Amino acid sequence: MRKSQTAEQVLNNLQTSHVVANELAHGNGDLIKALKIAGMAGPFKVVDPWQLEDEKGVTRINAGGYSAVPFGDRYPELIEFVIHYLRQGSSMGLPQQSASEWRAELECRLVEKLAEHAPSHKDSQIFFSNSGAEAIESAIKFSTHYRPKAKYFINFTRAYHGKTTGALNLTPNPEYQQQLRHRAFDVITLPFGDAQAFTDEITRRGADNIIGVIFEPVQGEAGVLVPPKEFLKNIDELCKQHGILTIADEIQTGLGRSGYWFASIEWGGMDPDIIALAKPLGGGLTATGATIARRKIFGKMLGGLHAKQQSNTFGGNNLAMAIGLKSLDILEQGNLVERARLLGERGNKRLDTLAKDYPGLISETRGFGLLFAAQFAPVTPTRNIVYGPKQLNSEFTGLLALMMWHKAGVLGNFSLNAHRTIRLTPALTMPEQMFDEMFDRLEASAKEHRTSWRMFLRTNSKTVLKLANFALFS
Ligand SMILES: Cc1ncc(COP(=O)(O)O)c(C=O)c1O
Repeated sequence: MRKSQTAEQVLNNLQTSHVVANELAHGNGDLIKALKIAGMAGPFKVVDPWQLEDEKGVTRINAGGYSAVPFGDRYPELIEFVIHYLRQGSSMGLPQQSASEWRAELECRLVEKLAEHAPSHKDSQIFFSNSGAEAIESAIKFSTHYRPKAKYFINFTRAYHGKTTGALNLTPNPEYQQQLRHRAFDVITLPFGDAQAFTDEITRRGADNIIGVIFEPVQGEAGVLVPPKEFLKNIDELCKQHGILTIADEIQTGLGRSGYWFASIEWGGMDPDIIALAKPLGGGLTATGATIARRKIFGKMLGGLHAKQQSNTFGGNNLAMAIGLKSLDILEQGNLVERARLLGERGNKRLDTLAKDYPGLISETRGFGLLFAAQFAPVTPTRNIVYGPKQLNSEFTGLLALMMWHKAGVLGNFSLNAHRTIRLTPALTMPEQMFDEMFDRLEASAKEHRTSWRMFLRTNSKTVLKLANFALFS
């Protein structure tokens, strides 16, 4: 057993020397171990909303956060609001106990915002939860109750919908699914972006057998994959024609990051039946999931005596709702959704130049609003290599790239369904000068390394050996 500290001690005197050791001992130790070998375990301190300082005092621009940190860490306006909120002393506002002024307001505001773009949703209803995966779980339940005779969900290659049991069943990655694949319900996985394959499958299986189709308008964990413009619209039309439910997973794209409030609607031209939201709804301070469903779908599962058919203890609690509401205010008052679109175009140009100038390092780049992806050239050629080593090579390339950016002073994101692709998800409030500085740093490091192979050669050999040992023998 390691020595633990009280909450006050941690707050007043962060003893960082214990942190990693304690996590290694009692947390998800091997994940921390990999980060430690890579020199990226932190813990980090907040310098300002957009920069973090590591345990050695090195400051880096934070473009990590997996799209869950929309305003940066400890955004002053949000912090001030939360302090004020806590001093006023609302009850906890648990959803099964009573109505809540905060929840009511957030419900109204979200539906209002949605109906601005999709008027058919003006009387829709919301179920709140505590994470993205949970928002998907609710979507699964709403859909299956609404179409009880149908058997299949359709999802798409490279999709990411979370790792709880139901959500994982819809995340077609064998690496994460393992024994749980197809245990919960039947899923048909189709190529992302291929409208014809979708049409053919509906004809082949019969529309009545399909419960619904779940999709990310732009796939985040796949490395910011943007489908052809007509794809989403085609799906929507076909599903409407046959009564198949459309479930938009806007957990990563929604509420501004993509440059849209709802990318599936405003960019994709759809009118989805169910919309799942999460990450930015927590303002970078907490975890909130929301599943918005048309009234007739919501009522089918949660109508009358069945109103407890789906419940959780904490989803929709007052603090989470207050933070969600304030987050919407900040997004609106700062015009941050539009800002994400404009800054996104600027960042995309910078990334494109990197790929053009250093193709041996960055083979492809993609962007959509403030979701950026750089796909790195594999450290060693992967043609003719079987799946296992190819996968390792890919993971290794991604990790080295993340380390290279870390060294250059930029924190990025690993991509769960595209290991060679490193993403940047900067805060929507990041000052322009810092945003440009971030790309300057990436450019300088690309100039220094030029190719993935050189990136590998320049990595400390002890670190490489430790990583290899970890990958092969842990
Ligand atoms: C599109 C999408 N759906 C669902 C999830 C799962 O969210 P959570 O990690 O909060 O469970 C994620 C998380 O990255 C996501 O990007």
